[in-house]
Amino acid sequence: MANLCEGRVAIVTGAARGVGKENALLLAKEGAKVVVNDLGGAVDGTGADTTPAQVVANEIIAGGGEAVVNGDDVSSWDGAKNMIDQAIDTYGSLDILVNNAGILRDRMLVNMTEEEWDSVIQVHLKGTFAPSRHAAAYWRQKNKDTGEPANGRIVNTTSTSGIYGNMGQTNYGAAKAGIAAFTIIAARELRRIGVTVNAISPSAYTRMTEGLREMTEEEIAVRAPSWVSPAVVYLCSQEAEDLTGRIIQAGGGMVAVCEGWRRGAEMDQMADPSELGPHLRKMCESVRKNSGMDGMELD
Ligand SMILES: NC(=O)c1ccc[n+]([C@@H]2O[C@H](COP(=O)([O-])OP(=O)(O)OC[C@H]3O[C@@H](n4cnc5c(N)ncnc54)[C@H](O)[C@@H]3O)[C@@H](O)[C@H]2O)c1
Repeated sequence: MANLCEGRVAIVTGAARGVGKENALLLAKEGAKVVVNDLGGAVDGTGADTTPAQVVANEIIAGGGEAVVNGDDVSSWDGAKNMIDQAIDTYGSLDILVNNAGILRDRMLVNMTEEEWDSVIQVHLKGTFAPSRHAAAYWRQKNKDTGEPANGRIVNTTSTSGIYGNMGQTNYGAAKAGIAAFTIIAARELRRIGVTVNAISPSAYTRMTEGLREMTEEEIAVRAPSWVSPAVVYLCSQEAEDLTGRIIQAGGGMVAVCEGWRRGAEMDQMADPSELGPHLRKMCESVRKNSGMDGMELD
């Protein structure tokens, strides 16, 4: 069988370790030339070091593939542009953008600092927007110049924290829910130039999640970040040209397609809040709860 991404040029952000590393390795195994982006900071985003990204690039090259390192901060407008330009200058095109870089600054809302909020929103949300924006401009120009579909792929990285809600992560969850919405809107906008936009919600044992709870060897093995990458790589492939606007959970023993917000119980509008109240309650009782709402009723 032919490689799924033969000759395609891919950028994977945050590819020095964890899920991003496995995405980069599998894309390379499937024939893609890879720009291995990573700022190389700590899990909270502090610091910078391109050595881990170089290790991943070396591993790809040692396996017979092609890779270069990029050390830009994905949340910098100019850095993101530089990263897109580097792919095009080095390999002659850009076909795939996997927005994976991320940090954590967990804190309960009552104690969260402005800095904890801003840094997480910055890296995840702007770090998805800025590279996507520059890549989209490149693909739109390509589409104009050739009259052909640009055949681009964006795979973003969301989280169950954003789509279902996790306590202690209002900053991270809001950013990740924003990424899910961004994915759907960008998919609708870029469809006409032949670019798909999807998002992965990973479940993986990485430095980001290793401290969350004790796990057995088997539990860790089933959460190896490499289990996330097959879905990512398929969405990046030429074959997946008709799959767009989807949020896919992957890793930890399963792959699942997420279903989004739907309008539930409905009634005609009412001007009087006291009159509206009982009807609103009845409707809330008749629909499925949002994830995590069990036990939230006040005594
Ligand atoms: N591990 C999980 O179970 C899980 C669950 C849900 C979502 N995610 C998401 O998956 C992605 C990867 O997470 P991971 O678990 O592999 O974590 P990780 O910490 O192992 O990897 C994240 C990488 O992103 C890089 N990075 C951070 N800020 C950057 C920036 N501004 N520019 C460039 N690179 C930057 C880091 O240096 C790091 O190498 C993240 O977006 C994370 O939020 C992970």
